[in-house]
Amino acid sequence: MVKESIRVGLLGLGTVGSAVYRLLDEEAENIGGDARGQVEVARIAVRDLSRTRPVSPPPKMMTSRPEDILEDPSIDVVVEVMGGLEPAETLIKGALRRGKNVVTANKDLMAAHGHELLEIARASDLSLRYEAAVAAGVPIISCLSEGLASERIEEIMGIVNGTTNYILCRMTDADESLTGALARAQEHGYAEEDPTSDLSGNDAACKVAIMGSLAFGVPVRRRDVKVQGITGITTEDIRCARKMGHVIKLVGRAWPEEAGIKALVAPHLVPWTHPLAQVKGVDNLVQIHGAAAGPISLAGAGAGGRATSSAIAADLGAIAPDLVSGHNTPRPNRTPSRLAGGGRKEEAAFYLRVVADERPGVLSQMVSIMADHGVGLREVVRLPTGTRGGAWILLVAPIVEDRLWDAVWILEGLTAVRGRITVIRFLPGGSLHQTQTHSSHEPIATTRLGAVETCRLSGHMWSI
Ligand code: NAP
Ligand code: HSE
Repeated sequence: MVKESIRVGLLGLGTVGSAVYRLLDEEAENIGGDARGQVEVARIAVRDLSRTRPVSPPPKMMTSRPEDILEDPSIDVVVEVMGGLEPAETLIKGALRRGKNVVTANKDLMAAHGHELLEIARASDLSLRYEAAVAAGVPIISCLSEGLASERIEEIMGIVNGTTNYILCRMTDADESLTGALARAQEHGYAEEDPTSDLSGNDAACKVAIMGSLAFGVPVRRRDVKVQGITGITTEDIRCARKMGHVIKLVGRAWPEEAGIKALVAPHLVPWTHPLAQVKGVDNLVQIHGAAAGPISLAGAGAGGRATSSAIAADLGAIAPDLVSGHNTPRPNRTPSRLAGGGRKEEAAFYLRVVADERPGVLSQMVSIMADHGVGLREVVRLPTGTRGGAWILLVAPIVEDRLWDAVWILEGLTAVRGRITVIRFLPGGSLHQTQTHSSHEPIATTRLGAVETCRLSGHMWSI
């Protein structure tokens, strides 16, 4: 069957949906690959028909019943840009069941049920594409599933949440509070409908799961990604990082260990000279370490309607020509099957900020707990007394993370220690050996902690 046009049903007309509608309207002549000029929006489903929007589709195109799109036999492709797990999952399954190809920007859904949905699409000879689900306009999905399909990947690492990078940059460069910077990110349309997903690291963890599955050829799900967000990061931490020649970035990483794929999202101390430290505002940067290809970096706008609409247009362009010509070759994003290499158990250096009562003996109690757990301290620094008590920065020598947490939990149980301890890891490779404290003071004491590392006790303060 030869078709004159590809009819798209849009599920959602928010930040991304509106930008997709506008791009398909304004750039129609460029979208659709060999079928350019033939992709048109036919129907749009939203929650609230009365809402004012940045675009004005004809009223007869709009519906508040997503089923109207699924039940319309003239619709070829469903573009899901509503977000969340339900009803998105049911609607995507319904679209595939009715023989419609699907394009989605939904990282929560792809990280939780992507393998099952891709299987359904495959079994039905249909395409399910999700370039927009990771790093917005940066083509990381096609890079991993096509360009690097035969590469053995050793590690994937990057900044994959635009909202938190924007917030951390505002806190670092403009001394803005986390809540103030979040409000701006929301105004720009960078944040998720529930911004807790950005702040908690969940959004980045979904993206790491999706990239990890493609990079290592085995299912990596959201629940497999260890996650720590940025809500505990204070301007005090940011100033301490600066003192050491570092910036704080929310970094997602995945690499093969003996027991399987290790995947995490956490705030990291990144040396100024590292490319990740240069990533500003809403931008994302993903570094892929290939065994043969070596390091590869992809960078660009990681959030926002317009950048994301580019990825959706790319997916439509991959599907449309076959639909127009009537060949209907399914073109889902492939999950390459690979041999995962590696096997190293990683050690990292850590920064701990501990708020504690200012009484004699508290510091030595903390230091001996660390020593008992085999945690080497490189330096202990005193911060000026704040309203919540004295604060200490403990710089921990490289260690396997689990061993550190055992000691941290015991410290948090001490009556002298107030609240949670802030734990931030140094980016491996930029470890404490390269850390410069920029302190004009010489250490005043050097203490031997049994068989463990030497600890420099800078008894004076950092003025931050
Ligand atoms: P958004 O602005 O909140 O828009 C969501 C849209 O979906 C709204 O138009 C909403 O209708 C509609 N919707 C939600 N639930 C619905 C339901 N049950 N029935 C019908 N319509 C429903 O969200 P967004 O920022 O565009 O994000 C959409 C998706 O893209 C999410 O999966 C997100 O993670 C992903 N994404 C976002 C970005 C970004 O920068 N924003 C970048 C990449 C990927 P109403 O307008 O009537 O409320
Ligand atoms: N909220 C997401 C972010 C949108 O800030 O990165 C892009 O996926």
